Amino acid sequence: MMVQGKRHTLSTTRHRLLVVSNRLPVSIKKDESGNMTAVPSSGGLVSALNPILSEYGGTWVGNTGFASNGESHDAEVRRLLTATTRGTSVRYLPVFLSTEEQTNFYEGFSNEILWPLFHDLQSRCNFAPRYWEFYQRVNQRFAAVSLKASQPGDVIWIQDYQLMDVGRLIRHKRPEGTLAFFMHIPFPAPDIFEKLPWRRQILESLLEHDLLGVQTPRDERNLVACIRTFLPSAEVEREHDYRRILYRSRQTRIQAFPISIDFQQFAHGAASPEVGRRAFEIRRQLNGIPIAIGIDRLDYTKGIPERLRAFARFLRDFPTTRGRISLYQVVVPSRENITGYRRLMHEIEQLVAHINGEYSQPGWVPIHYVHRSLPRKELLALYRAASLALITPLKDGMNLVSKEYCAARTENDGVLILSEFAGAAPELHRGALLVNPYDELGIAESLNRALAMEPQEQRRRMMRMRAWVRRHDIHNWRDSFFAALDGYSGAAAS
Ligand code: UDP
Ligand code: G6P
Repeated sequence: MMVQGKRHTLSTTRHRLLVVSNRLPVSIKKDESGNMTAVPSSGGLVSALNPILSEYGGTWVGNTGFASNGESHDAEVRRLLTATTRGTSVRYLPVFLSTEEQTNFYEGFSNEILWPLFHDLQSRCNFAPRYWEFYQRVNQRFAAVSLKASQPGDVIWIQDYQLMDVGRLIRHKRPEGTLAFFMHIPFPAPDIFEKLPWRRQILESLLEHDLLGVQTPRDERNLVACIRTFLPSAEVEREHDYRRILYRSRQTRIQAFPISIDFQQFAHGAASPEVGRRAFEIRRQLNGIPIAIGIDRLDYTKGIPERLRAFARFLRDFPTTRGRISLYQVVVPSRENITGYRRLMHEIEQLVAHINGEYSQPGWVPIHYVHRSLPRKELLALYRAASLALITPLKDGMNLVSKEYCAARTENDGVLILSEFAGAAPELHRGALLVNPYDELGIAESLNRALAMEPQEQRRRMMRMRAWVRRHDIHNWRDSFFAALDGYSGAAAS
């Protein structure tokens, strides 16, 4: 990247970094007495980027999830955000949205159109035309805040599907600026993407970035196929591990960067005596009966009802396993204003009640169900306590929980059953038991196989996965992304 006529790299100099995402690392909630408090946000985006920003420093632009309610309210939000980051090199800059904007931009365009479509669940989409107007309007707001908070030499790094139009708006004002984008969710194939009435505009906006990162090689192939199909005048050149797209005298590098976790932090945390004691306590409370964990945001993409049915099938088809294993399902509340999410919560609760009603015995409950977000230490204790992780999303950009489970298995035991449609599958396939999340019988058989797996085989598999995640951790991800951005000037195509 050329800055002030001198060549620098992101890794060797302190470029000012501005991260822009819909969700800030803290969300604002009102407690029972009506006071506003800042609580950690949920989701993989925040988990992954938090360690990077804490280390590198910079400004994080985003929304707190709380609709703006006048100036005194906004001032209180700013005060809370400043207090949260005091003493660090990170600054959180809020973008305020009205209730109407939250409804139409966040719940509407982002989560009733893009989210289901990009996860191949097109029948769940609600293509309301007004959503698009709000998407553009709110993206414009994020662009304005980002421009105001940055200078021409800064790196502006935009995150995820909610903000695909921000880059275009920034580019208009900063033709020479360095703009990067990372898509945390899958990118669909052309025959699914084509359903989006605004498909051309979205692709054109994405091509305003210098670097466009996606999670997996499959996402890269899909994105490039969409560009070829819907922007036929774009030229696509294949370089060794990326594609270069030339479109309207700009060039964009498109590359897969599978996101990851802070392996050392998870491994050290899990190995701490405090977490060890808590894991022991959990096992004791469950009468020493082994557990399989499921840990997900409450989202239909996570395949939770399908998993519960498969677990019931397993108990039915392999009756000798009854009383020998429980499923410990943690469901983190998410997007509760959207009807489909509320309906899903009821479906899950009914299934849990039904299965427990049918199979429980004195001293053993088939499914333990937790409906809240757990703090990091409790999560680590669960990872340590669980002999099995059952992670079966119908589709997932990456799924960090699967990598965190491996990192926390410091004794190299435990079995990971993983959906072949999780972004993590191509990375962990040599250690995990891969399953089709729609295949109830297949999951039931994998559970039976996992339960019977010899310690040597568990060890061999877990060591492979841990070695992979250790080497391909979040720091390695950041370095690869920044290295790709170095020296890549999109304007050079002219
Ligand atoms: N997580 C958490 N508390 C919980 C459950 C999950 O902090 O009670 C975190 C978990 O550690 C992981 C993230 O939430 O880092 C979920 O990321 P993932 O990529 O698995 O899924 P996403 O929610 O982004 O779809
Ligand atoms: C996924 C998305 C993120 C999002 C997170 C939580 O990880 O990729 O962009 O922030 O889910 O969802 P929420 O709607 O609460 O921000």
